[in-house]
Amino acid sequence: MKLTLKLLAASTLLAFGLGAQAAPIVIKYSHVVADVTPKGKAALKFKELAEKNLAGKVEVQVFPNSQLFGDGKEMEALLLGDVQIIAPSLAKFGKYTPKLQIFDLPFLFDDIQAVDRFQASPEGQSLLTSMSKKGIMGLGYLHNGMKQLSANTKLLQPTDAKGLKFRIQASDVLEAQFKAVGGNPQKISFSEVYQALQTGVVDGTENPWSNTYSKKFHEVQKYIMDSDHGVLDYMVITNAKWWAGLPPDVQKGLKAAMDESIAYGNKAAFQEALSFRDKVIADKKAEVVPLTKEQKAAWRTAMQPVWKKFEGEIGKNLIDAAQRANQ
Ligand code: LMR
Repeated sequence: MKLTLKLLAASTLLAFGLGAQAAPIVIKYSHVVADVTPKGKAALKFKELAEKNLAGKVEVQVFPNSQLFGDGKEMEALLLGDVQIIAPSLAKFGKYTPKLQIFDLPFLFDDIQAVDRFQASPEGQSLLTSMSKKGIMGLGYLHNGMKQLSANTKLLQPTDAKGLKFRIQASDVLEAQFKAVGGNPQKISFSEVYQALQTGVVDGTENPWSNTYSKKFHEVQKYIMDSDHGVLDYMVITNAKWWAGLPPDVQKGLKAAMDESIAYGNKAAFQEALSFRDKVIADKKAEVVPLTKEQKAAWRTAMQPVWKKFEGEIGKNLIDAAQRANQ
């Protein structure tokens, strides 16, 4: 009898013990690019590390390729709590803070190392919290790379862009950039770019090498100019209220996983940009066109007025800090 009671007590305890184990917190991480890109790799690394750091406490679900939300809807979804982590391109924050428009200014950064230095500076770091009043918290910057112009005609001089239609991200700075060279920019979601190029809705666009290759844009563009005229990087963001409501140990484990996953993605961005360029060349679908120093200088001069146009919204102090990062 005593034994039966003891067994009963033990099994009740076991049942309660198991029952008391809370279900893992489900974290949806949604993005619009392929798994092989720096962002795709960083997202998968975050899943691996978060689930290792917080075994049984969190489950991370990664949705690449606009599977869950496209770039037009993901920000709204984050604020509604339908997704917990997204990493939009810095070009897509204009509606939430005009300051982040700095990253779209043409020819502001000499290379991705300069972008990295600016992001790490006090001015760059302060931008991570610039949307807190809107309920958005920045967890860190993530690189993709410098952008290249592409079209079905060679764009050697800025005048070659006259009258051409260009796909752009949802950014007023990028709109002004193409207008400055007489182009006709059109804001189109990333998931629709291939078709827009294929069907001639637009004549050209701008992309970093990893996006061009992984989305096969080079198959529907005749020329890709080695222009490096701007940057396409990301801010990994979360819903500030959701984040604040997490248990402290979960928050700590997620932050550590995020920092490490960003470092991993950045390493891929630094190391692999040129190998994606090589793959595009090897495919022989589009011709990669080098620009001379003089041709690049002409593009720079033609696009330079865009800086003045947005200086008031962005802040001269930020633009100065970004330029200091070039040295
Ligand atoms: C684009 O829309 O071109 C990019 O923002 C896509 C991305 O996330 O790299």
